[in-house]
Amino acid sequence: MKIKAAVLYKHNTPLSVEEIELDAPMAGEVLVKIAGSGVCHSDWRDIKGEWKDMWVTPPVVLGHEGAGIVEGVGPGVSSVKPGDHAVLSFVPNCGTCYYCVIGSPHLCDNPWEYVGGSRLHKDSQMINHYAGVSSFAEYAVVPEAGVIAIPSDVPLDKAALVGCCVTTGVGAAINTAKVAPGSTVAVFGTGGVGLNVVQGALLAGAETIIAVDIRDNKLGYAKQFGATHTVNSTKEDPVKAIKEITQGKGTDYSFEAIGNPETIVQALSSVRKGGTAIIVGQAPYDAMINFPARLLFDEARLVGCLYGSARMRVDMPHIIDLYMQGKLKVDELVTRTYTLDEINAAFQALDKGEVARSVIKF
Ligand code: APR
Ligand code: ZN
Repeated sequence: MKIKAAVLYKHNTPLSVEEIELDAPMAGEVLVKIAGSGVCHSDWRDIKGEWKDMWVTPPVVLGHEGAGIVEGVGPGVSSVKPGDHAVLSFVPNCGTCYYCVIGSPHLCDNPWEYVGGSRLHKDSQMINHYAGVSSFAEYAVVPEAGVIAIPSDVPLDKAALVGCCVTTGVGAAINTAKVAPGSTVAVFGTGGVGLNVVQGALLAGAETIIAVDIRDNKLGYAKQFGATHTVNSTKEDPVKAIKEITQGKGTDYSFEAIGNPETIVQALSSVRKGGTAIIVGQAPYDAMINFPARLLFDEARLVGCLYGSARMRVDMPHIIDLYMQGKLKVDELVTRTYTLDEINAAFQALDKGEVARSVIKF
């Protein structure tokens, strides 16, 4: 079928919104009519080519934070049927590898295989899929394992955000860190992901939540999402400020949701003895992170975090329930919506830090 999609042909160039072809779903695949797709910093990172080509080779249709309605299914698909509403997972886990079996499906060894290549092409030119989702398009063909059915009364443009930033941020606090009630937490970077770390920490019962950002508008959002203190790190040293707020002790948990080696070290430097720094942001693939060895004598822990350590089939419906019960803010994340034709403006707004999150609405 012919679909309208935003194609990245070359790193650091605008996406081209144009008509391309999408093949029918093969065995184990699902055709989804996309309703909404969040504009995430990871897409922007890959537009800029900061990660290896093995991850994303242009031409490619980006977008990994999507939700929509099942339009068709390939042979053997049993968990969803046409008409079902769904969030898309960017780690469609195989279910049989070591990590799936031990209960860490977000670390699946075989997430993104399309038998015989991509279903996306333009005439004879193959166009790559992105993270098993490619939701900057009217339709996507995705593996069944990446389709998480949700109730049909959930607004799909909001459910889209559960596909990445809400699950990643809330999961980082609840699954990865297991924030204990009464804890002191710092969150470096309160954009789409970091705001969800803030509200995840709040949900887990954190008592003190210190938001660190370079932009006052982001710190304003952080307050709205539950931060008790804010630090603008262009005006004061964030590690010093955190130590002052915590009477010299440091935090129980500091989260980094930026993807910058410098702020990763700041997060690690801001924890108390035996405290934990959880790195949610994704620094450039080969970036080196340097920190003083003395931090190790104080038993600081440095923990990586992918996709909020989520078990998608359990955690995404749970997060959707919490949102529908008013216990998680998702509507408030969406500062702006754009059409697919306006997608390059949406990335400019992300880069300039103008929004908490924006969503491409179809
Ligand atoms: N110190 C503090 N805050 C910073 C700094 C800095 N040096 N640099 C950027 N920020 C803030 C930005 O102002 C913004 O509020 O970090 C925030 C990043 O938020 P977004 O741009 O919305 O990015 P997001 O989509 O949340 O992704 C954050 O998580 O999944 C990963 O790849 C993603 O590494 C990225 C990170
Ligand atoms: Zn993302």
